[in-house]
Amino acid sequence: SEEELDRRIRAAKQTLGDRVVVMGHHYQREEIIVHADHTGDSFQLAGFAQQHPDAEAIVFCGVHFMAETADLLSRPDQAVILPNLAAGCSMADMASIDEVEECWEQLAEIYGDMDEADADGLVPVIPVTYMNSSAAIKGFVGRHGGIVCTSSNARTVLEWAFARGRRVLFFPDQHLGRNTAKAMGVPLAQMPMWNPRKPLGGSDEATLDDARVILWHGFCSVHRRFTTAQIDKARADHPGVRVIVHPECPMDVVDAADEAGSTDYIRTAIAATTEPTVFAVGTEVNLVQRLAAQHPQHEIFCLDPVVCPCSTMYRIHPGYLAWVLEGLVAGTVLNRVTVPADVADPARVALERMLAARP
Ligand code: 13P
Ligand code: SF4
Repeated sequence: SEEELDRRIRAAKQTLGDRVVVMGHHYQREEIIVHADHTGDSFQLAGFAQQHPDAEAIVFCGVHFMAETADLLSRPDQAVILPNLAAGCSMADMASIDEVEECWEQLAEIYGDMDEADADGLVPVIPVTYMNSSAAIKGFVGRHGGIVCTSSNARTVLEWAFARGRRVLFFPDQHLGRNTAKAMGVPLAQMPMWNPRKPLGGSDEATLDDARVILWHGFCSVHRRFTTAQIDKARADHPGVRVIVHPECPMDVVDAADEAGSTDYIRTAIAATTEPTVFAVGTEVNLVQRLAAQHPQHEIFCLDPVVCPCSTMYRIHPGYLAWVLEGLVAGTVLNRVTVPADVADPARVALERMLAARP
């Protein structure tokens, strides 16, 4: 039963004490979040992974790319555990290392030597990967002078990239790439999308010549469900409503919203509002429901009336959390996520560039 699992998780955590740190992404279900020592957006959780050098294990309640990142940033002998190894991210799966390498080769045919800087000191293309990508992709980016970004620092990271390259290749999320570049003043006409089924060349070359941001075809299946019609309805039903969405939403939705930001931006914006307010939120429903419960003075609802959980975040069931924690009590490390050294070294370079990037 739910109570029994809750009791087992508490007991195991009590026995383990400081030997274990439990992290929970904001999209985790409530029964998991109550056991988390740290909650946060993906950027914050990456930082927490560096702050517990004495813990034997980090139990990461989130998705696979987040656990890989925690492994990259934690001490080598610390185990990062993903309670259910089937908790992936469909967006991260939309950029495979083979496809990205193929794209890079095609771009090199058009732009020439990708390592050679022009008279302004800029190389032809800087690759930027969203945190929501595999460690192999982060490794690719690290090997090619590129950098990682999250939804909370995408603009700072793009500025970093434009200080070093003529153009940016941004993957996997087309929406975060487009929304961020648009907010920086890049015209849509300078944001072509790479199409794996249509080799570059011919008339595309003209577009690619002026390109500032080359987008990838990835998207988040949760956030692409939000529409401007939902925003129109929220505004009609609740005059004065504040609409806040995640930047993984399509561009028209971000443009129609009042604000866009990371999961922690959304949490903080609502927590900082003292005046009773109606909030329509365009992000994963577990976070929206938690915020609604925490702030009864506000009316907070999800823009999408059909409940839209992230199905892979939801795969972290309390039963798995109890199982991996009890494993640690018994001296067994279950479901460890490790990034192989050949990928880890360049991937860490790309992450460290992000951690050091300043506006
Ligand atoms: P945040 O970095 O905003 O937490 O987003 C992570 C994520 O997966 C959003 O879909
Ligand atoms: Fe991936 Fe979207 Fe789920 Fe975030 S919400 S983990 S981007 S599928």
